[in-house]
Amino acid sequence: MASGAGRATVRSLDEEVEDLGKMAEDVRAGLLSVPKDLSPWPKYFYDARGSEIFEEITEQPEYYQTRTELSILEEKAPEIVRRTRCRELVELGSGSASKTRALLDAMMEAGEGPVRYVPFDVSESAVTGSAERLLGEYPELEIRGYVGDFDRSLERLLERPDPDGPGRLVIFLGGTLGNFTPERRREFLGRLKNGLGERDHLLIGVDLVKDPSVIEAAYDDSAGVTAAFNKNLLEVLNRKLGGEFDPDLFAHRATYNHEDSRLEMWLDSEITQNVPVAALDIEVSFEYGEGMRTEISTKFTCESVTGAFGESGLRMLDLYIDDQDLFGLALGTPA
Ligand code: SAH
Ligand code: AVI
Repeated sequence: MASGAGRATVRSLDEEVEDLGKMAEDVRAGLLSVPKDLSPWPKYFYDARGSEIFEEITEQPEYYQTRTELSILEEKAPEIVRRTRCRELVELGSGSASKTRALLDAMMEAGEGPVRYVPFDVSESAVTGSAERLLGEYPELEIRGYVGDFDRSLERLLERPDPDGPGRLVIFLGGTLGNFTPERRREFLGRLKNGLGERDHLLIGVDLVKDPSVIEAAYDDSAGVTAAFNKNLLEVLNRKLGGEFDPDLFAHRATYNHEDSRLEMWLDSEITQNVPVAALDIEVSFEYGEGMRTEISTKFTCESVTGAFGESGLRMLDLYIDDQDLFGLALGTPA
């Protein structure tokens, strides 16, 4: 998309955003592991339908994360912009960019020259949709959207044509960092740190450790939206890899794992069954009641976020928390 006077562009950063060969390799590894585990690859949830269902999740009363993070941003955005002096906002896993306005408004109000917004997401519909919407709302804003996978193109995204340019604020909201395994998180934050310049800052949303019943309810809402999100993963496997999963033969389960401080989503087989997956040339057997882990969502404390930053060479400057201690926004710089 290129619209207006060229103020909004959306480009692809990867040669091929969808690499079905790699997806087959990942899913094969996940289905052959014990227990079956697709959680190391959260990106496969976000086809166009998955992105849509995620938006519905954010509106459920039990899902406190989105509205809480927005309330922190609305209160703290002017301070964050003042501290970081950023004129460019780079958003990783931007989705619908529903919370970004708070920061953009504060950047506009700071009034120190042009503001650029750089959304980046694996979901093309998400980047195009949010770029179109924000362009309508902010006539002064330059938008450079990128469709890509941060497994592959984080470095290219963060390359700076002008190393002396104004500071960037790289944001990663929603608690998406919690969907990574600890190894993946370390690797991701390390790559992020390497891509940041001296004047750049990082703002990362983290869901906080709390009463497990509150967390479990957020991932098992009474309207069944999160269950639909979980089962949509099976539809993705069917469509992209020729799977024959029947979502009605699996039950959604959300369980808090105390030892690892994380919520885990599972799909439990309701019968004994063999499911063919054509692209993998295998039939996957499920025992009655056997679970397949589909997602992890790690919950943090101030200590664990500080530790995660530190082990990747980042320094945490502040952790902004709402008054009910539900959610945090960690501001950092390269150490
Ligand atoms: N930041 C938004 C959306 C969170 S949902 C919010 O706070 O509401 C997680 C987002 O990360 C989705 O939009 C998904 O498409 C994107 N995503 C997941 N894995 C990704 C990957 N490997 N590369 C790029 N984007 C990814
Ligand atoms: C995107 N991510 C932070 C969400 C979460 O809360 O872990 C994904 C999600 N899964 C189920 N509900 C929401």
